[in-house]
Amino acid sequence: MTEHVIVTDDGAVRIVRMNRPEKKNALTAAMYDAMAEAIETANTSDIRAVLILGVPGAFSAGNDLQDFLKAAMGGEGLGNSVIRFLYALARAERPLVAGVQGVAVGIGTTLCLHCDHVVAAADARFSTPFVSLGLVPEAASSLLAPRLMGQRRAFSLLVMGQPLDGAEAKACGLVNTVVAPEAVEAEALKAAQAIAALPAEAVAASRRLMKGAPDEIVARIDEEAAEFRRRLKSPEARKAFEAFMARKR
Ligand code: COA
Repeated sequence: MTEHVIVTDDGAVRIVRMNRPEKKNALTAAMYDAMAEAIETANTSDIRAVLILGVPGAFSAGNDLQDFLKAAMGGEGLGNSVIRFLYALARAERPLVAGVQGVAVGIGTTLCLHCDHVVAAADARFSTPFVSLGLVPEAASSLLAPRLMGQRRAFSLLVMGQPLDGAEAKACGLVNTVVAPEAVEAEALKAAQAIAALPAEAVAASRRLMKGAPDEIVARIDEEAAEFRRRLKSPEARKAFEAFMARKR
């Protein structure tokens, strides 16, 4: 698989750690596949909660922009691995918990919309610069964010690209708890363990009742992906990716 995602089981909690610190956890196809696999296989195992973590300073910088640039030049685009991961989030049968430190860009933010519990550092920075990259929101965020935080706050995040820190993310319902960066992992693990200790069938049934069938979410993932693929090949997107790659350090 890939050394950039580390999956470990701690009792009934599966810990999925994005681990590509030198690229701020920008996600590659192999990383999406590894994360999807970890969530999919949890569905049919004794795992009772899946905890998604990053590294200090970076939950994730979002999709690898090199991959986006390749797509803009005629490659696969929002490829099968991304879609597999998004479906895995939407169809997850085990509660998902995230512990967010540092940057959470693009999918780093939108994956949190699928989580049942999110712990964030006070200095976390959630941002979704889709539109300034010439793209559109993904991961069913165009459906889930307005539902969670209301149209105007979702517009400010998803379209205007205005970032949220931990406290702001909590105020709009994206995050449950805000703690110091060094306490994020312990706090998130504690929450995952508490969930895992509850009667599993009752948790699963309650979660199904609260979330409803995943069909609507899956349909929106597909709808967004079709637009996203068109946008990836647009001149404005290509220009934005090249500008990032060529930026002065
Ligand atoms: N894709 C590919 N590489 C990325 C990346 C991404 N999404 N995000 C960061 N990196 C790489 C940088 O190119 C840099 O690599 P280098 O050291 O080989 O030059 C390394 O990760 C560190 O990033 P850097 O920009 O130096 O760190 P920073 O702390 O100054 O800024 C970010 C962090 C996340 C704010 C900034 O990297 C950024 O804006 N990244 C792009 C985020 C994005 O637009 N994602 C797509 C969302 S749809």
